[in-house]
Amino acid sequence: MSSVILQTESLSKIYSGGGIDTVALDDVSIKIYEGEFIAIMGPSGSGKSTLLNLIGALDSPTSGKIQVDGIETTTLNSAGLALLRNKKIGFIFQSFNLISRFSALSNVELPLSILGVSTNERKKRAYEMLKMVGLEDRWKNNPNQLSGGQQQRVAIARALSVNPPIILGDEPTGNLDTKTSESIVDLLYDLNQKTGKTIILITHDPEVAMRASRVITFKDGHIEDEDYDIKLKKTI
Ligand SMILES: Nc1ncnc2c1ncn2[C@@H]1O[C@H](COP(=O)(O)OP(=O)(O)OP(=O)(O)O)[C@@H](O)[C@H]1O
Ligand SMILES: [Mg+2]
Repeated sequence: MSSVILQTESLSKIYSGGGIDTVALDDVSIKIYEGEFIAIMGPSGSGKSTLLNLIGALDSPTSGKIQVDGIETTTLNSAGLALLRNKKIGFIFQSFNLISRFSALSNVELPLSILGVSTNERKKRAYEMLKMVGLEDRWKNNPNQLSGGQQQRVAIARALSVNPPIILGDEPTGNLDTKTSESIVDLLYDLNQKTGKTIILITHDPEVAMRASRVITFKDGHIEDEDYDIKLKKTI
């Protein structure tokens, strides 16, 4: 088996506010191996987004440890966390989160400019990424001139621009119709197969989960089930 690229150890998150404590994640230990394609499922409020936000260093845990590509993230300062977010992890979201006044190309360029890549180099790389997701002829378009599926492709190109080893998606097909959702999952699946990138997607859609190599199901802030044989079951 390949090496562990991401690991959590007794990870917990309690949200406090308005005098109420909500245990969103309760003692979660996970090992994810390089090249896995993981689907995270489970009912609303079970802690899926909380986990992804912690893994992606968008939020900090109440207790427990997280290792991303050998780096212990809980010991990093804010500059270290920002660098980790930018270099190791590509995010895709349900609502695409593109900048509406920017062209597709400029949106894809953004993580590269944060890393200080020169204008020429980042334009070249952003165009290559748009080509990879089949949108090179729409590079000038703003997000509102693109379909939902096309906007998600731009978001995928943006996530890939810095060549991170891990892609995290919080219901990236949640706003898309069945056919478009399928084409986005095909794209992510190809990426996983061809480049070996580790992909972790939250989804409520069993069809999306069917493409994964492992399905992790959450309930009440903990892992309820892990299923490695999802594809095998499909063919039986
Ligand atoms: N910022 C926050 N402040 C307080 N409570 C929160 C916050 N974010 C999430 N929660 C609570 O933590 C729990 C887990 O939420 P989370 O968003 O991780 O669920 P989820 O599995 O992603 O659900 P969904 O499928 O609806 O997106 C829920 O009870 C939620 O209300
Ligand atoms: Mg969620």
